[in-house]
Amino acid sequence: MERDFELVPEARGADGIVAMLSDRIDGDYLDVAGPQLRVVANFAVGYDNVDLDAARARGVTVTNTPDVLTHATAELAIALMLALLRRVAEGDRLVRRGDPWEWSTTFMLGEGLDGKVLGIVGPGRIGRETARLGTALGMRVVTVGRGEPLEPVLREADVVSLHAPASQDTRHLIDTAALAAMKPAAVLVNTARGALVDEVALVAALRDGTIAGAALDVYEAEPNVRDELKALENVVLTPHLGSATRAAREGMGMLCVDALRAVLLEGRRPPNAVV
Ligand code: 8YV
Repeated sequence: MERDFELVPEARGADGIVAMLSDRIDGDYLDVAGPQLRVVANFAVGYDNVDLDAARARGVTVTNTPDVLTHATAELAIALMLALLRRVAEGDRLVRRGDPWEWSTTFMLGEGLDGKVLGIVGPGRIGRETARLGTALGMRVVTVGRGEPLEPVLREADVVSLHAPASQDTRHLIDTAALAAMKPAAVLVNTARGALVDEVALVAALRDGTIAGAALDVYEAEPNVRDELKALENVVLTPHLGSATRAAREGMGMLCVDALRAVLLEGRRPPNAVV
């Protein structure tokens, strides 16, 4: 992730900082901010952009924005499943290109979600909400959590939906071997973090039919998206929209403000502190 050099001078001398997930908050950053810094409120539920040990060592509280974006992100995961399997994005591209088309009994057939097996990788808040919504649409849910074997879920699921945080343990969790374990008709959905997926392996798997499709909201080198992914029709791509509803963003902003107030004005530890 590239350092946002513009933010650094603004951080100098700050008592509290609201950070975006594109800001890499490491020891150097915290040192530039200065020893008076007491709280970093990360405007995201994921905090892989923050070096927690560096914050802890400097006595800086770090908070995230749980709960308020759970439903919005789960909703986007379901929207991506439908966009991919019902070929919504592909159909939209076809119409916009002006390709000739005509209704027919077999034109652009897709797959519904009803009766499909939804594999939730990371059954935390967002994973469980996605499972709830999937169940309402007739899906049967299987889950795999941290420390459990991934392969049985990959083998069984028609839709594999990623909801685990980015960490050293989850980097390239979905690699060549994981993709090979999925059914050829299965699809991958990622609304978590780009680092969970080896995109080179994914492109190969999509090209050679190892899996049937992918719907991605997050990328390894965000905001850059590989041209190979853009060239594939069996891929749906959105620009990190998981929490992008007005209600969720308002809730996230309020949690950040509450965290700054708690630490700086009230001298108490916010309930959403992760350090
Ligand atoms: C973004 C997210 O951080 O909360 C997270 O972890 O990935 C998203 O909510 C948010 O969209 C701000 O860019």
